[in-house]
Amino acid sequence: MSSNVSGDAPTGGIPRAKTTGLAKGPAAPGVPKVDPILVADRVTRRFGGLTAVDVEHLEIPRGAITALIGPNGAGKTTLFNLLCGFDKPNDGTWAFDGRDLSGVPSFKVARMGQVRTFQLTKSLSLLTVLENMKLGAPRQRGERFWTSLIPALWRRQESEIEEKAKGLLARFKLDAKQEDYAASLSGGQRKLLEMARALMNDPTLVMLDEPMAGVNPALTQSLLDHILDLKDLGMTVLFVEHDMHMVRHIADWVVVMAEGRVVAEGPPDQVMQDQAVIDAYLGAHQDVDLGVVTGRVSGELGAEGETLLAEIEQEEAVSLADAEEEKP
Ligand SMILES: Nc1ncnc2c1ncn2[C@@H]1O[C@H](COP(=O)(O)OP(=O)(O)OP(=O)(O)O)[C@@H](O)[C@H]1O
Ligand SMILES: [Mg+2]
Repeated sequence: MSSNVSGDAPTGGIPRAKTTGLAKGPAAPGVPKVDPILVADRVTRRFGGLTAVDVEHLEIPRGAITALIGPNGAGKTTLFNLLCGFDKPNDGTWAFDGRDLSGVPSFKVARMGQVRTFQLTKSLSLLTVLENMKLGAPRQRGERFWTSLIPALWRRQESEIEEKAKGLLARFKLDAKQEDYAASLSGGQRKLLEMARALMNDPTLVMLDEPMAGVNPALTQSLLDHILDLKDLGMTVLFVEHDMHMVRHIADWVVVMAEGRVVAEGPPDQVMQDQAVIDAYLGAHQDVDLGVVTGRVSGELGAEGETLLAEIEQEEAVSLADAEEEKP
């Protein structure tokens, strides 16, 4: 019989949901999970001669918090982009909740319940905090057509969206700022806004690319608690992070990438002692103690980031135009 691996995280005295039985066998790259929410096979992305992602098999456990770690340039963000439909792979298939996602565009992936936030936050500065939230709400074209014929229906839908947005803003302690421009928020508040906005879609899988990057230490505990809350509310979390303290503190499971491949996976304490992981980090950071990864420049995505930003802004501009159309 295979031994199940338990990966419940210590959470500073607060009783949190325990996650047990994550994997169906000993921790190793590609190990099957008891009930995976996301399954990827042979996902490859090449940029010219560089293979940025080359994932043979990966399963993300449902109802758990999984950290995706690895040195700069390991392919973590590229993998996120592929899995969420922001980029197209050269090869491979992947399924969310048993549904094939190959070729499904990002906005549809989000509506299906798989949402992500960005390494570089994507709140729209010239919109208010509340307007940013409303843009996160799913809008069905068919629904829009029919409701547009019956003003009472769209008014009700509008007010439901607004109520939901205000409720989430209160949960993230941003309610006092709802009428402020997003530009006036601090880096940490933008991260919170992005997370809150992602929840407008009622996701089952929340993917966070470096949620702590650029966040003032005063806000990190609050962000950590919000991530733990997502799990308590029944969501699955997959996050990219360089801060190993955070990974140890909240992750039930850790997946390690290096040079595009998954080189190790397992419970945090086990993974941090894995020779392949130590080698992967030491290859890039000679002086790094795995307890604290330092010297990292966060929030930079280069050319890829610019392209993504343009795509998101275009998509959001379309949503905004749609929202404007719906106004009386
Ligand atoms: N659009 C692109 N064109 C060319 N190369 C790219 C592009 N996007 C990513 N790359 C390259 O692919 C590799 C993986 O990049 P990626 O951003 O996925 O790494 P990462 O693990 O997220 O790194 P970091 O921790 O620094 O955010 C890097 O070598 C990067 O330079
Ligand atoms: Mg990245």
